[in-house]
Amino acid sequence: MLERYGHGGDLLTAEETFGRSMEQFLDFSSNMNPLGPPSAVSHILKEQWRDIVKYPDPAVRELRSKLSQKYDIPMESILVGNGAAELIDLTARVLKPAVTGLTRPSFSEYEEAIHKSGGGIYNIPLTHSNQYELQQQEIEAAYSAVDLFFLGHPNNPTGKLIPRSVIDMLMQSDRRLVLDEAFMDFVPNEQDHSLLKLASTSRQFFVIRSMTKFYSIPGLRLGFMVAHPDAIQQIKHQQVQWSVNYLAQRIGTAVLEDEDFERASRQWLKEEKPWLSEQLRQLGLEVVPSDVNFLLFSFPEHMGIHVKRAQKHMGYQGILIRDASLFEGLNERYCRVAIRLREDNERLIAGLHNMLADLTQNRGQGHD
Ligand SMILES: Cc1ncc(COP(=O)(O)O)c(C=O)c1O
Repeated sequence: MLERYGHGGDLLTAEETFGRSMEQFLDFSSNMNPLGPPSAVSHILKEQWRDIVKYPDPAVRELRSKLSQKYDIPMESILVGNGAAELIDLTARVLKPAVTGLTRPSFSEYEEAIHKSGGGIYNIPLTHSNQYELQQQEIEAAYSAVDLFFLGHPNNPTGKLIPRSVIDMLMQSDRRLVLDEAFMDFVPNEQDHSLLKLASTSRQFFVIRSMTKFYSIPGLRLGFMVAHPDAIQQIKHQQVQWSVNYLAQRIGTAVLEDEDFERASRQWLKEEKPWLSEQLRQLGLEVVPSDVNFLLFSFPEHMGIHVKRAQKHMGYQGILIRDASLFEGLNERYCRVAIRLREDNERLIAGLHNMLADLTQNRGQGHD
């Protein structure tokens, strides 16, 4: 299983499983911007590596100031973390909810963090018949059982934003709300959807962002969160000192200035998402419409394809796809793929075509 440690993008496991070297895989199992990293990254790594002899700024002032300018948010409302993953964990530990409402499916680290903090979980279903859109009545049903909602906006693996009407409802409620906006940079007109600004003054809302996906720096680790300054103080108090390293701070500051990279990324996705969605549909797959840079799809029942067999077949072709059946709430027909550059996407489609031909002809045989 490629997701041995819980996530996609595990190239070492792929190497061990499929017997080819890491560089020979096309990775559709983690959702990085294929235009990245921006050019400032290699420049800083080459020119500023000697500065690692110094401790990083424990208050991350330069990067927080840049984030403050970019999003028009006071610096005291911003905490930078070692990836969004650290901030998910810290937020759960500090807020210590008794029972948290989580959509099924959603990113597995929410559940991990809640369990580590000793809390229970209330499942909020997202359904195929609603195209995996969060419904108001599900929030109403959860309301009396939970003291916090922890939601992906947009959600992983469905790729869906929370509808405005549901956001409004959550904002009017007195329950605490943590929104993970890890993929928000990929949403067209993100400023119309992000709740960053609102979170900076509210005592009830917390927004977490990742910088690893849009800027393609998951190996460097970088994310930030926005909340009321008092909550930021409390959360910062629990954070390990110097958890955001020097290079991540420098690189984070530099990439935020690269407006050309931002523009090019939006243009790429605007063209590539409809193209890849349509190609997948032409293969007979059921694609969930997405607001971001990845697509969730399922193999229709009549094909009789189990995603684990599909993943194996694709892996031997050098193409990694995400087994989405590992997300609670999805079954063995579900798969998730990142959207990459056209040439790579064409290879994905060709690989899927081979796999479908093999596995639908030889049901019960193939690469098992
Ligand atoms: C929805 C979601 N949130 C947060 C993260 C963690 O991001 P980071 O790399 O910034 O820790 C991921 C990583 O896959 C994710 O999918």
